[in-house]
Amino acid sequence: MTKSSKPQLRSPRSRRPSRPVHIVGTGSYVPERVLSNADLEKTVDTTDEWITTRTGIKERRVAAPEQCTSDMAAEAARRAMEQAGVSGKNIDLIICATVTPDMIFPSTACLVQQKIGAKRAAAFDIEAACSGFLYALEIAQQFITSGTYDTVLVIGAEKLSTIVDWDDRNTCVLFGDGAGAAVLQSRGEEHGILTTCMGADGSLADLLQVPGGGARYPASKKSVGDKMHYIKMAGREVYKSAVVAMQTAAEEALRRCNLTVADIRCIIPHQANLRIIEATAKRLNAPMDKVYVNLNRYGNVSAASVAIALDEAAREGRFQRGDLILLVVFGGGLTWASCVIQW
Ligand code: ACO
Repeated sequence: MTKSSKPQLRSPRSRRPSRPVHIVGTGSYVPERVLSNADLEKTVDTTDEWITTRTGIKERRVAAPEQCTSDMAAEAARRAMEQAGVSGKNIDLIICATVTPDMIFPSTACLVQQKIGAKRAAAFDIEAACSGFLYALEIAQQFITSGTYDTVLVIGAEKLSTIVDWDDRNTCVLFGDGAGAAVLQSRGEEHGILTTCMGADGSLADLLQVPGGGARYPASKKSVGDKMHYIKMAGREVYKSAVVAMQTAAEEALRRCNLTVADIRCIIPHQANLRIIEATAKRLNAPMDKVYVNLNRYGNVSAASVAIALDEAAREGRFQRGDLILLVVFGGGLTWASCVIQW
């Protein structure tokens, strides 16, 4: 074989220089059923007054029994795709962040792939608890920046009502169900996702967990009897770590972009507890009118929280094209992440 007749092998990975990455569409979905604090007063020893003053939550959404995480994820994805003007066949990769997958495997992302007709797309889940959506955003950005993929669908979706112990007033008042999604592409302009920071501290893994159902404590009569398949949380300790993690992550993202809070039009934090959000805002010297809050309506929807909030804030016109926004989250692991976007 002469030199010129050698097959021209090309790496499927593009060698294009790094490209800016944009969120070109967002969408969200929450189930119809509203569970108010007054409803919870009837089932556990709690009051609307306690829940409101300690958390800021007034109501949350609960999915129907037949409605799975992948159903909510697919609906949020359809809405994001519609806004982005892309169809299933345009999607190269689906990343779904969730702690409540439909089942241990296959991944919820694969189930979504089928539901939205994204036949060409690779699909996988990631698990970083409430930080999952921003972890997924960072991964998606890397794939687009490298030139490997052009269009990535990122989803945060949860059916937390299935892992909440509805007899435990310490936790059942905090969580809800729903999904949020974003379509990422490079659209040529300079702005877009400016930076993403991620962190974790596994020494604090015990603070927030569902101990049963994995390889350590597989499902058994005992694990069910001991309620090991429900969320266990050391609330006070999580609270303290959350404020520090959110502040650190936000400051790191701003520092990397050479920005201050004054430059930011809208801060979208993880929606776990209004007091955590207010304490973080205070440490960042950010006025609360810059901070987007919807936890009063949805409670904590883990990986879906910041995704739903981003979609709602964008659709409500809380920021315009070219504005700088800051997303900051924390979650089980412990994990945390932040992201600065020029919209
Ligand atoms: N209704 C009435 N009383 C309650 C309730 C309730 N729903 N829940 C707890 N209490 C009681 C407790 O039993 C306790 O009573 P006691 O003093 O007689 O023992 C009292 O209220 C105070 O309890 P604390 O836990 O000290 O209350 P705190 O002010 O810390 O608030 C809360 C609890 C809201 C859970 C808070 O600690 C918190 O928000 N922590 C962070 C939670 C969080 O963000 N988790 C992350 C979620 S998961 C994730 O994001 C991955």
